Amino acid sequence: MTPAVNPPLGLLAELTHRCPLRCPYCSNPLELEQAAQELSAAEWGRVFQEAAELGVLQLHLSGGEPAARRDLEAIAAQASAAGLYSNLITSGVSIDARRLAALVEAGLDHVQLSIQAADAATADRIGGMPGGHGRKLAFARMVREAGLPLTVNAVLHRQNLDSLPAIIDLALDLGATRLELAHVQYHGWAYQNRAALLPSRAQLEAATATIAAARPALRGRLVIDDVAPDYHAQRPKACMGGWGSTVMVVTPSGQALPCHAAAGLPGFTFPNVRSNPLRAIWRDSEAFNRFRGTAWMPEPCRGCDRREEDWGGCRCQAFALTGDATATDPVCALSPHHALLNAALEEAATSDGSFQYREMRRQPASVG
Ligand code: SF4
Ligand code: FES
Repeated sequence: MTPAVNPPLGLLAELTHRCPLRCPYCSNPLELEQAAQELSAAEWGRVFQEAAELGVLQLHLSGGEPAARRDLEAIAAQASAAGLYSNLITSGVSIDARRLAALVEAGLDHVQLSIQAADAATADRIGGMPGGHGRKLAFARMVREAGLPLTVNAVLHRQNLDSLPAIIDLALDLGATRLELAHVQYHGWAYQNRAALLPSRAQLEAATATIAAARPALRGRLVIDDVAPDYHAQRPKACMGGWGSTVMVVTPSGQALPCHAAAGLPGFTFPNVRSNPLRAIWRDSEAFNRFRGTAWMPEPCRGCDRREEDWGGCRCQAFALTGDATATDPVCALSPHHALLNAALEEAATSDGSFQYREMRRQPASVG
């Protein structure tokens, strides 16, 4: 069935694809959008107004690194004027105290800081930026001094998962009230580094035990959100809460997407906010309706009693693994492609951990 179309709760505004870091699991598309194509602050302001009218409550100012935009303060002011709760998702390496004060003045509500690991050596190696971790710690302290609530986001994988207790301690030390633990999603850039990043089952079980112990111990001090990894699972998660159900992504040039990775799916024409009202994109566009609900599903999803829980899993993952975005997500043990995951885990078990950095130029060059 096709569910009633409720408004999106959140808008993820990718202000730019430019970024000073080079993470091997970068979730930006393989084809980066150029600075000259980016929406202006005034255009973002119109999008924010339309989002608020549509019913959006939360706005995530993301990238790339949003602070690469010199007019980030003006964009934050547009968000405030639209009445949206604004969350800045940042690497924190390029925002000084003066700029943070200007963002607070513009009405910024919340900061989400990404970290690559608990210790500087690992974090700087993963992020590909010497000194980056130290800058992040300094930035986190500025955020707390400015009185803004802080979420720490750590992307987890084989090369940092064993230090999860130290990551939790670091989040506490930085004064975060929320810690998001998100395992790498293996499509786009991360797909080619999969063997170096996939954790083992033993690592995952230890991490699960750590989180289970930390949650009650830290109740009232730190909320821990944990997005479990797919490759060791038997059933998929509802990616993005279901296609076209809770979040709209807008790319730097104004393409509207149901998820951050959808631009890599073939056979789609995603509408652009420069020429289409947000409401029409969300409710009526073919792209947002294609995988909404359950009518599009093949068997075994079509007859499965979980079809309105996980909405068939992740379309981008299905495409990355099978070349077919309509296929049952191979994470599901009922998928005829489920064995692909075991093969990937076996390959990862023999990997020496080398990976390819995300380079902002076209051709990837460095090896970690
Ligand atoms: Fe989910 Fe489809 Fe697997 Fe059922 S068959 S659990 S709906 S992915
Ligand atoms: Fe696109 Fe999951 S990331 S549907």
